[in-house]
Amino acid sequence: MCEITFRCAVPEDAAAIADLELLCFSSPWSRAALEKELTENPVARYIVGEAEARVVAYAGLWLVVDQGHIINVAVHPAFRRRGIGKKLIAEMLRLTGPEGITSYTLEVRLSNTAALALYQGFDFYVAGMRKKYYEDPEEDALILWRDAPERDAENTQ
Ligand SMILES: CC(C)(COP(=O)(O)OP(=O)(O)OC[C@H]1O[C@@H](n2cnc3c(N)ncnc32)[C@H](O)[C@@H]1OP(=O)(O)O)[C@@H](O)C(=O)NCCC(=O)NCCS
Repeated sequence: MCEITFRCAVPEDAAAIADLELLCFSSPWSRAALEKELTENPVARYIVGEAEARVVAYAGLWLVVDQGHIINVAVHPAFRRRGIGKKLIAEMLRLTGPEGITSYTLEVRLSNTAALALYQGFDFYVAGMRKKYYEDPEEDALILWRDAPERDAENTQ
């Protein structure tokens, strides 16, 4: 395990989040796009996790009516397998649940066994597939879904 604290992201976090994107994804979001998210998108909810005085994890979600669309979840490679991903998801669910969200959804690469196992631990289930959804490399996406979030407010870090 690892000492980590979570907080809502602010526009000044865009550079650190963009660095994580570069480390974690083949098609990373740019710093400019993330700044826009954090300043102009009224439905965006982002949290960051800090350890050793730096941002090592983040999660982003769009609130679409009563659905939480998880946009991205990432943990710095040097900090993985220490329970941070689990805490990050629990924190995102705890913070956004009270906004009236009745279900959460996201897409995940078919080959991303780590993320699939992480989400399945939070009762996400496979609700469908989007063929060739991803590029670089091309791959199908699984659509994950999660209902009944009423217990999320009880989750703690
Ligand atoms: C997916 C990711 C966020 C997991 O973060 P993490 O901090 O390593 O996750 P945790 O240590 O909290 O592990 C939580 C659970 O996820 C699963 N898991 C995590 N890494 C795994 C791996 N490499 N292989 C298999 N299962 C894995 C396990 O079920 C684990 O529970 P356990 O430790 O009790 O077995 C991280 O690997 C990551 O950032 N990957 C790149 C970005 C990404 O794929 N994001 C998701 C896009 S949808």
